[in-house]
Amino acid sequence: MKFFIDTASLAQIKEAQDLGVLDGVTTNPSLMAKEGISGEDRVRKHYVDICTIVDGPVSAEVIATDYDGIIREGESLAALHKNIVVKVPMIRDGVKALKYFSNKGIKTNCTLIFSAGQALLAAKAGATYVSPFIGRLDDVSTDGVALIDTIRTIYDNYGYTTEILAASIRHPMHIIQCAEVGADVATCPLSAIVALFDHPLTTIGLEKFLADHKKAAAAMAKA
Ligand code: G3P
Repeated sequence: MKFFIDTASLAQIKEAQDLGVLDGVTTNPSLMAKEGISGEDRVRKHYVDICTIVDGPVSAEVIATDYDGIIREGESLAALHKNIVVKVPMIRDGVKALKYFSNKGIKTNCTLIFSAGQALLAAKAGATYVSPFIGRLDDVSTDGVALIDTIRTIYDNYGYTTEILAASIRHPMHIIQCAEVGADVATCPLSAIVALFDHPLTTIGLEKFLADHKKAAAAMAKA
């Protein structure tokens, strides 16, 4: 399973990269706004900065919602760096644009997926990734992980190569559950990735190993 970080914070991206388990980055207009990144030039520079930190796919979302605008913006984003993946919303013009980008060899991430039917359409149009938002489904009392499971079955039934990128992940159990049902990628906040490291028995076990080692070394020094 691949781990992407879901942020536009360069500091957090660097921290995740230093952990040695990061495969890519996803952003969206809300995450860019959270970092105070706006204006075409600054946005474009920010994507390039991210690409210089992580050598993996970096999703950059289009703002346009009409076909011509999505194509124009997507081609311009894709030209920024070889690792840019054009993130396109699940709307009619977006799906049409996915097909265009796919024919051109431009990688895409179809975002705002909330149903299996939407995931099927995106795969048929040749999306590289689909992003089902599991946390937002859980927020409205709908099982987000179950959607990942259903999409996995559908893609496997027909051999679609579109990767399932589980998004809107809120906690470490979301990552484990998505791994269980076969998501290809989990894009997570740094907190969820870091939480996977911790277990009290690991902490206690290591403390005991080190204390025993110290005791043995002291005994040897005395002898
Ligand atoms: O990748 C999509 C993600 O950024 C949405 O997460 O927590 O706003 O639902 P959230």
